[in-house]
Amino acid sequence: MQQKKADLANATIKDVARAAKVSIATVSRILNGKDTVSPPLVERVMAAVEELQYHPNAMARALKVNESRSIGLIIPDIENPFFPALVRGVEDAAQMHHYAVILCNTDSKPEEEEKYIRFLQSKRVDGILFTGGPRSERNVELLSTLSIPVVLLDRRVGSQLSAVITNNRLGGFMATEHLIKKGRRRIAFISGPAELSSVQERRQGYAEALEQYGLAPDQDLIQAGDFSFESGYQAASRLVASGQEFDGVFAANDLMAIGAIEYLAAYGLRVPAEIAVTGYDDIRMAGWYKPSLTTVRQPVYIMGQSAVKMIIDRITGENRQYTEQIITPELVVRESSGGKEG
Ligand code: RIB
Repeated sequence: MQQKKADLANATIKDVARAAKVSIATVSRILNGKDTVSPPLVERVMAAVEELQYHPNAMARALKVNESRSIGLIIPDIENPFFPALVRGVEDAAQMHHYAVILCNTDSKPEEEEKYIRFLQSKRVDGILFTGGPRSERNVELLSTLSIPVVLLDRRVGSQLSAVITNNRLGGFMATEHLIKKGRRRIAFISGPAELSSVQERRQGYAEALEQYGLAPDQDLIQAGDFSFESGYQAASRLVASGQEFDGVFAANDLMAIGAIEYLAAYGLRVPAEIAVTGYDDIRMAGWYKPSLTTVRQPVYIMGQSAVKMIIDRITGENRQYTEQIITPELVVRESSGGKEG
């Protein structure tokens, strides 16, 4: 009997059981891989599944087994190359553990963050990985009230939720110390959004390096950016317009570092001969850009893999302890700071 196409599209487990002349429980055991069913029965049921084009309803399974095998990943800026690299690490690790990833981009807007948190909750995801924007405190509070496990990624907010971050303070120190070892003495800092823990820690590392080498901090050499290329360009223009002497720039991410170099070049200042520049992230473009960018490489792939391991440990109940995993970044020396130290 040829069922109508529409029926085939909506075949249920009951239809499969009827077609295979077995109970629904038997079909369920076979589809869930239980090996307590005889091979001839398995064959009969799988033939019926094939003929009826039956696809178990993922939502029904989620409701029944109370897991959807999916992880929500909320990020603030899909256009910043740092995040797609991070997503890749998360996606590969999730796939290895047979979890799907639901990617949500918030453009750093708190209202978008809340919308996606509620959406993921409604989809019964098994866990949420969250990278908040500059005003995400309220949403981190909301996340900490959910029954769904949550892990913060890249940026810590408060101390209720476990996190996977890199050692931004060490990274900021290395980027600045490298410029000092290259003979630079008036080093500017182009900041990202000041509310972010990653930015505050990089700025702390910058200040500690200046202090360790006896260089006086100068507030006039600190310029605010927002992690975008344009904000790096504008910050460099303000530094030049201020009339302040400077011979080095540490930008809190690569996009701003590249924006700053573009402005300096347009203004006729040679990089690195006159101004040595370092960035942060080591996005793919950092090595291709001319001059290639000296930067602090964030091990994004490892960050993604570690975050997935941490969230799955919480989903399965293996480990629900508060944990903060701090991963060590690496200085990558290229042309924009004058090459190898010394
Ligand atoms: O470039 C985007 C920045 O935001 C990265 O440095 C990352 O650490 C995040 O904080």
